[in-house]
Formats: sequence, C-alpha cells, structure tokens
Amino acid sequence: MDLDEALKLWRISFNVGFSEGFETKEILIRYLNRNPELSSVACTKSGEIVGALMCGHDGRRGSIYNTAVYEKYRNKGIGRKMEQRSLEELKKAGITTGFLFININNPGSEEFWNSIGWATISNIKYLYKEF
Ligand SMILES: CC(C)(COP(=O)(O)OP(=O)(O)OC[C@H]1O[C@@H](n2cnc3c(N)ncnc32)[C@H](O)[C@@H]1OP(=O)(O)O)[C@@H](O)C(=O)NCCC(=O)NCCS
Repeated sequence: MDLDEALKLWRISFNVGFSEGFETKEILIRYLNRNPELSSVACTKSGEIVGALMCGHDGRRGSIYNTAVYEKYRNKGIGRKMEQRSLEELKKAGITTGFLFININNPGSEEFWNSIGWATISNIKYLYKEF
C-alpha cells in the first residue's frame, strides 16, 4: 500500500474522525505489519489508489478503519469489494465477527455499512482514553 497516497485519500475524504496526530505513517506501518494481508486498496489500471480501508484483528474480533473511496469513483461497488476482500482474509485467519465505528458526522457512512450487511448497535457507547 502506498501510504502517502492512502493518507491523502483519507485526509480528503473524511469530514471528521481523521486525526493527523494519530494517523501517522509510522503508526500505519506498525498496524500493517501486525495485520498483514488484511487491509484493502482499490487502484486504477495505472496503479493510482482510488479507495482504501484498514483491517485487522486481535485474535478474537476483526476491525475495519478508514474506509474511503474518492468521490469520482463512488457508487460503483468499490467500497463493498474492498470490504469483501478484507472479510475473506479475516475468515482465513479464523475470524468471523467484525466491529467498526463510524462518525455520525460523515454523511452516508451508516447507510453504506448497513446496506452491505453491518448492523448498527444502539446500546453501545465507544469510549477512549489517552495515556
Ligand atoms: C462510504 C464510502 C466508502 C462508500 O464507498 P462506495 O464505493 O461508494 O460504496 P459502494 O458503491 O460499494 O456501495 C455499496 C452499497 O452502499 C450504498 N451506499 C454507498 N454510499 C452511500 C451513501 N452515501 N448513502 C446511502 N447508501 C450508500 C450503495 O448504494 C450500495 O448499496 P446497494 O448495493 O444496495 O446499491 C464512500 O462514500 C466514501 O468514501 N465516503 C467518504 C468517507 C466516509 O465517510 N467513509 C465512511 C467510513 S466509516
């Protein structure tokens, strides 16, 4: 994955929820090394990245982060294809349950995930702590 190109895609695509401080190249390299083969990218024939998502697991549950497709390439099934590829790779690792979070300020994201089979859990809150 060309990380600079993927970072550029994510920076452009997300209204909110993309943190420059958190999404550094070094952190992404560490994530990809811990989770080989699971993340997916979509490219043009000439190799230009038009979509990307990060996928990993903790031995128990799969996770997907940073799913984005450039506006020009949306609604062509690219997001769905990237999700399918990553879930196939998770299955090979024995993982058949996935969780992901969305930011409600990214319009259309919940509709996208729901329409490809992800259920919204209404009684869970997602907490975080910096330490
Ligand atoms: C969300 C996103 C990744 C979808 O990618 P995409 O390649 O356009 O999605 P697909 O073409 O594979 O769509 C798959 C399904 O989701 C639906 N869908 C996609 N975007 C949608 C939207 N904005 N509103 C409602 N439904 C949507 C499609 O209609 C399709 O359903 P169908 O097969 O029943 O017609 C893309 O719109 C994007 O990059 N958005 C900006 C970044 C973002 O908010 N990402 C969400 C991360 S949580």
